[in-house]
Amino acid sequence: NGGVITIPVVVHVIHSGQAYGVAQNISDEQVQSQITVMNNDFRKLTGTPGFNSNPVGADIMIQFALAKVDPNGNPTNGIDRVNMCQESWTTAQVDANVKPATIWDPTQYMNMWSVKFGGASANILGYAQFPSNSGVVGVPAGGAANTDGVVANYGTFGSSDYGTNFTLGAPYDKGRTMTHEVGHFLGLRHIWGDDDATDPNGLVCATDYCNDTPPAHKANGSCVTPIASCTSGLFEMVENYMDYTNDTCMNIFTLDQKARMTAVMNNSPRRTELK
Ligand code: ARG
Ligand code: ZN
Ligand code: CA
Repeated sequence: NGGVITIPVVVHVIHSGQAYGVAQNISDEQVQSQITVMNNDFRKLTGTPGFNSNPVGADIMIQFALAKVDPNGNPTNGIDRVNMCQESWTTAQVDANVKPATIWDPTQYMNMWSVKFGGASANILGYAQFPSNSGVVGVPAGGAANTDGVVANYGTFGSSDYGTNFTLGAPYDKGRTMTHEVGHFLGLRHIWGDDDATDPNGLVCATDYCNDTPPAHKANGSCVTPIASCTSGLFEMVENYMDYTNDTCMNIFTLDQKARMTAVMNNSPRRTELK
């Protein structure tokens, strides 16, 4: 299909005994709305919410489909509901317990988890594991096979544009948390280059290894623009999926970000096998 890669996805819905569709036992429709948003965003589909016609915007030529066959060869809808008998989780607990207990072969599926974050992680929207050994300059180190994938809080998993009675809350209710996390899963950095430790006040612009995302000082939480880049005459791309702005603000991956994700898909051991 014209060079488009379709990545099979399993969504693990982690709950603690809630009825279907209640709280963290999110509905099939809510799960599907998340896949719809990722396809809108990665394929830059015309006419979708927040569509951005900036010519530097890219169709990444990667799309996502809920798996139709499970690891045992049986039919599945790609949604794996698991009662883990614990109400909420820190990211460390997700990595130590939830992921190893539920992951499907990460060379055959992109694993996504919807969980309720709690404790020290109560305010986290989502997080990702970077690809390993991609050989692509500037990709942070990845991790173990049994923790590979992307995780989001159930309150940000999906989009209120595609259904009702979802567990979502504005301004993170349009599915852009997972678009952002899958960007990391495919090797992207934040547009400010992640120099928070050495530049706590956001005085300098570190590189994200993309020439077409203007250098950015620090994470932007607001879409109030323009924010001057470190490069005179350019403005920070607050609408990039790899900034920290609200879901309705975010609407672009660039051509250079596409090149990096494509290189990861072609070179990182587990990622190449997803094709
Ligand atoms: N804080 C998360 C991360 O760095 C996700 C940010 C998502 N932003 C959003 N507008 N949904 O991975
Ligand atoms: Zn991030
Ligand atoms: Ca900086």
